[in-house]
Amino acid sequence: MTTKMNGIYKCDICGNIVEILNTGAGELVCCGENMKHMTENTVDAATEKHVPVITKTEKGFLIKVGEVPHPMEDKHYIQWIEASANGRIYKKFLKPNDKPEMEVCTKDEKITAREYCNLHGTWKKD
Ligand SMILES: [Fe+2]
Repeated sequence: MTTKMNGIYKCDICGNIVEILNTGAGELVCCGENMKHMTENTVDAATEKHVPVITKTEKGFLIKVGEVPHPMEDKHYIQWIEASANGRIYKKFLKPNDKPEMEVCTKDEKITAREYCNLHGTWKKD
C-alpha cells in the first residue's frame, strides 16, 4: 500500500499521529501494528459540527470549526486546523478552551481547509 501525500496516519495503541511529506511504498507501523489512515470526512451528520467553514476576509480567510462552534473541552477538542493554498500549508495547533478557528493572511483567491478532532478524526472543506 502506498501512503497518501499529506495523509494523516494514527496509531490506535499509543496515539502517535504522523503526516506524510513524501509518499513511499512502505507500510507505516507503530507499536507493532499498521497505522490507520485517517480518512477525511466531508459531511456533518451529528449535532456536533466538524466540517471547516471558510469565510473570505479583508486579509485572507477565516476558518471556523464548524458551522456551530465545536466543543473545546479537555476530553474533546480540535487539535489543529490546517489550510492550504498554492502549495503552501498553514497550520494552527489548538488547546482546550481555545477558539476553534484560524485566520490565514493570503492574497490567494481560494484555499482548502481541514481539521483534526481528537475524538472524531479528520474533516475537510475544499
Ligand atoms: Fe468532535
